[in-house]
Amino acid sequence: MNEELDLKQIIEWYITAGVEETAGDVPFAPPPAAAQSVPVRPAGSPKPSDSGRQATTVLAQATIDAGNNARDLCKSINNLDELKALVEGFDGCSLKFTASHTVFGDGSPEAKVVLIGEAPGADEDRIGRPFVGRSGQLLDKMMNAAGLSRENCYITNVLPWRPPGNRTPTDGEIAVCLPFLKRQIDIINPDYLFILGGSAANALLDMQESISRLRGHWLEYKNASGKEIKVLASFHPAFLLRNPAQKAKAWVDLLRLSKKIAEESVEK
Ligand code: URA
Repeated sequence: MNEELDLKQIIEWYITAGVEETAGDVPFAPPPAAAQSVPVRPAGSPKPSDSGRQATTVLAQATIDAGNNARDLCKSINNLDELKALVEGFDGCSLKFTASHTVFGDGSPEAKVVLIGEAPGADEDRIGRPFVGRSGQLLDKMMNAAGLSRENCYITNVLPWRPPGNRTPTDGEIAVCLPFLKRQIDIINPDYLFILGGSAANALLDMQESISRLRGHWLEYKNASGKEIKVLASFHPAFLLRNPAQKAKAWVDLLRLSKKIAEESVEK
């Protein structure tokens, strides 16, 4: 075996995967061929040229297969522990091979409210839990102030693995991982979803709309058994950290959610 060539290939693969920092001493290996074939075109970026189209078609088929596989595997899963084990053992998304941890959802399995973000960041990847970094701290503060305790909610992400360098997830990565999010929602069976950011909202609700237009209105998500779950989307806390002037709108959204919960619990 030509060791020098192997090293070069591995480094090239790191670069392709977008790796730009290290999280520990243990290097990760390139993923199996099937997982590598999930395309890495970020959502919304320009389409490939003609010469790249044939390769992309092949890659797209691999993505479809991986997403179908994820969906089929989820069908026989009826509790969160089994689903967590399934996601941790799933090799169909290349992000798994650049991440330090699988970041599965966290919180009460009986939650009436599920909060959904886009993907783990550096802190979440290091610790293995969702929303534990600066975004999570801001979210906690805002939730507490709106009378919503994180302990009574369940919090998760569209992707269970951090995209290297926090890059935007690709359409393929979202498509492959979405069945895991949907199954979490089916198992928990909440009455409300609070979606953080346009990317997660567009992924789950299968639309293409800016978060500025989505927020402020009640939307709907139908789970696998046909139950209509009420949805509010709002700004992602990472966006609020960069744009504090928008916090007031996110605050209004959280109050709208807590008011609705209070009203409907009195009606029941
Ligand atoms: N941003 C997210 O969307 N999810 C996390 O878990 C952390 C930051």
